[in-house]
Amino acid sequence: MSTFLAQHTRTHSCGELRASDVGQIVVLTGWVQSSRDHGGSVFIDLRDRGGIAQLRFDQAFNAKVLEQASELRNEWCIGVVGEVRSRGTALDKAGKERSLANPNLKTGEVEVWVTELEVFSKSETPPFAIEDGIDTNDSLRLKYRYLDLRRPEMQRNLAMRSQITSTTRDYLATNRFLEIETPFMVKYTPGGARNFLVPSRLNPGQFYALAESPQIFKQLLMVAGYERYFQIVRCFRDEDLRNERQPEFTQIDIEMSFVNEQILQDTMEGLIGRLWKDVLGIELALPLRRMTYAEAMDKYGVDKPDLRCDLVLDDVTAPAKASGFKIFEGAIEAGGIVKCLRVPGPADKMPRSLLDTLPDFAKSFGVKGVAWVRVQEAGAWTGGLKGFSDTARAEINQITGAQAGDTLLFVADKYKVANTCLGAIRLHIGEKLGLVRKGEWQFMWLTDPPLFEVNDGEIAASHHPFTSPRVEDAHLLETAPEQVLARAYDLVLNGVEVGGGSIRIHQSELQDRAFQALRISEEDRRAKFGFLLDAFKYGPPPHGGIAFGLDRLAMLMTGAEFMRDVIAFPKTQKGSDLMTECPTPVSKKQLDELFIQVKADSPTKL
Ligand code: AMO
Repeated sequence: MSTFLAQHTRTHSCGELRASDVGQIVVLTGWVQSSRDHGGSVFIDLRDRGGIAQLRFDQAFNAKVLEQASELRNEWCIGVVGEVRSRGTALDKAGKERSLANPNLKTGEVEVWVTELEVFSKSETPPFAIEDGIDTNDSLRLKYRYLDLRRPEMQRNLAMRSQITSTTRDYLATNRFLEIETPFMVKYTPGGARNFLVPSRLNPGQFYALAESPQIFKQLLMVAGYERYFQIVRCFRDEDLRNERQPEFTQIDIEMSFVNEQILQDTMEGLIGRLWKDVLGIELALPLRRMTYAEAMDKYGVDKPDLRCDLVLDDVTAPAKASGFKIFEGAIEAGGIVKCLRVPGPADKMPRSLLDTLPDFAKSFGVKGVAWVRVQEAGAWTGGLKGFSDTARAEINQITGAQAGDTLLFVADKYKVANTCLGAIRLHIGEKLGLVRKGEWQFMWLTDPPLFEVNDGEIAASHHPFTSPRVEDAHLLETAPEQVLARAYDLVLNGVEVGGGSIRIHQSELQDRAFQALRISEEDRRAKFGFLLDAFKYGPPPHGGIAFGLDRLAMLMTGAEFMRDVIAFPKTQKGSDLMTECPTPVSKKQLDELFIQVKADSPTKL
């Protein structure tokens, strides 16, 4: 049994020691980062989450402990007692005195001359180096996640994430928000994201859903008079995964009573401002910019534009309609649009090799092709648009502000497809040509999105069915629902949707009309949302809210490339945890208890 911790208490973290500590007796604990044997002295870099300290074991100073030290290997966990000394100076080859301090290390001026060493535990050779910037396969990092998490960059990420949550709690508590927990196991309500289901053993054949967000509960808390609610809460969604999505992720979830968009957004800007100031030391210019959904789609082709890139799209449907160019004319006749992206010259900046990648890129959006031309002197075009009328060309040059040397790219398709595709091309080219300014924080509120999504005659809520229409649009609910805009907003940062919310409907009559527009029958409304509708009979206050994606915020604030780098134990794209090897099959007995039968052709073997 180790007596070390019975006798000693850690005095410093490894990263804390400075020249001002010289002469102190210190107790450090940590992991062996590296060791160097110089014959007569051994140097160990000792690492804990605070940084690195150099330990020195010296023959003349303490021979016994030097012998112990020569056994040490990387990642052994140890404790030491020693004296802080200056690293001093040495004579170089030319006989000149030079400092032995390491300017790359915060603790580089000092070292600890060890008098006592305790090995708490030994380590096998780790499967990858415990250091920043390793080039190893991701699966290995996830399998040995506890070793990956030992690496300084991962520790910095998680420390910053922790700072984000503590600053958030502090700001919201100061602004009279109450932190209230809501259930994870909830009633299944269709619509929105696909839910994970949890069988109820006590209610055979019945299921809970894992909450995709606390949406309905936070609204009920408003009915209950709590006025300002928040929760840093795990949400579960059984979606197809990609970099910005995890099946379980965390929201900073917020709801406020007696507010309009302005009050809510101002309060949230206060939070964002505090986070950037306290966590990153950056003073943001507030208020943040606002842009309507219509403007975002028009100029950037997406509802989350990355404003670090100045390239913009133009709608050239009107001139393209009578341009004589059959592909454009055909697309417009079929109800589509033509969008154009002007890439400023000179032309050799936009090489043919890059243009040649665009058709394949476009294919992934279901778009057949990308047309392009090079603009010459006097507005002439060279390139693929044979038979294009001079009038249409002149008009497009004017709309796009085309100059000699520029390249114009065109996509003709349905409104959404053309925008999404050219919007993605804008960013693709922006990245390739170095036109996305790194290091900038480009925030914007996206406002006034459509209330409903209408696809092939199917209508669905864009946000959720409780989102309020704009007052001035409510009269269109019955006649032209697709034209109704919502009192909803997203916070977008550098092209990533980091938060979204809305002002809710709090009047039963308006809610009924919204359900009607969504073609949800009276019976279905009762079955799915009866409890909420009942609650709204008892004096619901006007209210609205928002939820920020904590993982996305943390990813952007830390500068991590992947969202999984700010989550301690993330899932892979296939939703599995490679460390614990989950999910797993379960026994037939367990399934029987839950009255669940696995189909005979299921890939899962019991
Ligand atoms: P929404 O569905 O827009 O709104 O989610 C809010 C924010 O959560 C983040 N987010 C995700 N992050 C990681 N992985 C995911 N799978 C994932 N899905 C969403 C995004 C997003 O902006 N109840 C409403 C909010 C409200 O109206 O108050 C809601 O959940 O950053």
